[in-house]
Amino acid sequence: MKRMLALVLALMMCFTLAACGGGDTGNQPSNDNGGATDTPPADTPADTGGDPAADGETYNIGVAIYQFNDNFMTLYRQDIQAYFDAENEAAGYNKYNVTLVDSNNDMATQTNQIQTFITQKMDAIICNLVQTSSAEQIVNLCVAADIPLVLINREPPGDEKDADGNIVDETAKVILDNPKVCYVGADARQSGTYQGEIIAELPDHGDVNGDGVVSYVMIIGDPENSDAQYRTEYSIKAMNDAGIAVEELVAQVGNWDTAQGQTIAANALTQYGDKIDVIFCNNDAMALGAYASIDAAGRTVGENIYLVGVDALDECVEMVNDGRMTGTVKNDDVGQANKACEVTIELLEGNSIENYYWVDYTKVVKE
Ligand code: GAL
Repeated sequence: MKRMLALVLALMMCFTLAACGGGDTGNQPSNDNGGATDTPPADTPADTGGDPAADGETYNIGVAIYQFNDNFMTLYRQDIQAYFDAENEAAGYNKYNVTLVDSNNDMATQTNQIQTFITQKMDAIICNLVQTSSAEQIVNLCVAADIPLVLINREPPGDEKDADGNIVDETAKVILDNPKVCYVGADARQSGTYQGEIIAELPDHGDVNGDGVVSYVMIIGDPENSDAQYRTEYSIKAMNDAGIAVEELVAQVGNWDTAQGQTIAANALTQYGDKIDVIFCNNDAMALGAYASIDAAGRTVGENIYLVGVDALDECVEMVNDGRMTGTVKNDDVGQANKACEVTIELLEGNSIENYYWVDYTKVVKE
């Protein structure tokens, strides 16, 4: 509404001065939409790339991604940009002005970026938290500034309820109490369960060396992250639920990173050799690294070892189909990005929203 008023005033001024020459919507942050940028927009007039429609209004949206250098979040942020690009194309002008920033895996950096977005009077903020333990702080900043906030990918702690049905965690409360704050994500328990089921459903139930127990290596994303915690827990829970005896040989943090996945797998293979039946990886990027080590150790997936990941990166789906990976679980980046953008638009238009949105995972095994 404020912006409509500003626009009407600006148009009136233009007519009065009879000197209105361009597609300038006012003193808004600008971004050329040409891709990701590390720099928040300068507080200069926006280049909206043409004359806005008569009733056109430009919304400025700040998007902070925990780290650009992450395979899955790279796809996700490209999907967000693509969604708003398509909306702009359909509107015929730069209706959604998106500024993407890289938080470089540093919470202090991200907090500053959010504060900058607030100073710049962004109309909405989408945030992929560096640390979910800071969710409450980020929510409070945005709520105090009355800027809608859509949290993505990293689930803030606790939407669990006590026996009386009350939310137990303060963070969930801070989300649930705020009509302009929500989380869009996927339930990581489901992805972990699918990983375990992929192994449990094999003819030998994962016991590839036939010694009566499934001995595994767990390569963990990052310890603070609920995706990592749930995938670690629920993959093994699914094996237990299927009545399969398991033994953990190694569980180490690989920070979602291919090189670290490779090192952890290489060390485990050196230490435990043929004793290892399965390498579970919390994501595909680390599974790519683990595969390199499996290959270097002269082992063959499907014959004398199994390997599972999560995300269904294109190269991993290919590996599942040609047998170099046992399976993966599709983490629907497009589905999640589209939902996050849709909800952002609802918020921008003043419509009411839910506080939580969930997008399903799906199993990916060889056809
Ligand atoms: C997960 C994804 C990982 C990594 C992580 C970042 O959902 O599976 O690959 O991107 O998010 O938080």
